[in-house]
Amino acid sequence: MSLLKVANIHQYYGGSHILRDVSFEAHLGRITVLLGRNGVGKTTLLKSLMGLVPIRSGQITLNGVAIDQTPPYERARLGIGFVPQGREIFARLTVEDNLRMGLATQAAGSAIPSELFELFPVLHQMLHRRGGDLSGGQQQQLAIARALASSPKLLVLDEPTEGIQPSIIKDIGRVIRMLASRGNMAILLCEQYYDFAQELADDYLVMERGEIIARGAGKDMQANGVRELVAI
Ligand SMILES: Nc1ncnc2c1ncn2[C@@H]1O[C@H](COP(=O)(O)OP(=O)(O)OP(=O)(O)O)[C@@H](O)[C@H]1O
Ligand SMILES: [Mg+2]
Repeated sequence: MSLLKVANIHQYYGGSHILRDVSFEAHLGRITVLLGRNGVGKTTLLKSLMGLVPIRSGQITLNGVAIDQTPPYERARLGIGFVPQGREIFARLTVEDNLRMGLATQAAGSAIPSELFELFPVLHQMLHRRGGDLSGGQQQQLAIARALASSPKLLVLDEPTEGIQPSIIKDIGRVIRMLASRGNMAILLCEQYYDFAQELADDYLVMERGEIIARGAGKDMQANGVRELVAI
């Protein structure tokens, strides 16, 4: 079932036309991977889904509800969890308080789901450390856990492997696959690390200069020459 539908969206930064007629869907139980070189508009697309940048035209619907005029806070409440590029951990807050920030859209007094510590045991060990004292990989795990704290229906991740050591990349990949396999969450993953993207993709999209120039099933990525399309 398609959870997210994006139809013909256009976005501008001032006079620069960044997103050009972008359309795609993301489905429950599936990982949709968005690939593209630096500066093609991947982050802009994810931010426009979250409502962090306005679109000029087009439609975004989540679970059949039009959300393109809805503020970010409300989109989070409706079920979008966002893991931003560069993680945006609150450096001076503890791990526990960072996780509580992820509960902001939940009823007052909601507890941090214990499952997050099963997914990322290191966060339990470091609960009282400051976010800024964690390694890059640990911060990335914290950013993902923070997004999961509100039990999103759509998890959006912007380059989670950027600057992270291989063992933690593997752990993150396993968690993403496990979340998708439960069937009640759609995952949209923006990536430049091709092998990681190919391993996880059920569906792929390739962006170039703000347009989706190729798409297909993850299993066909190799045959369709996607590696070459996004090679720097
Ligand atoms: N706030 C902004 N104001 C003006 N232009 C911007 C802004 N943010 C991004 N841009 C421009 O929009 C284009 C797309 O940027 P975006 O960050 O979406 O690319 P990206 O594909 O995520 O790149 P990367 O792989 O480096 O993260 C770039 O030309 C960028 O310079
Ligand atoms: Mg980006």
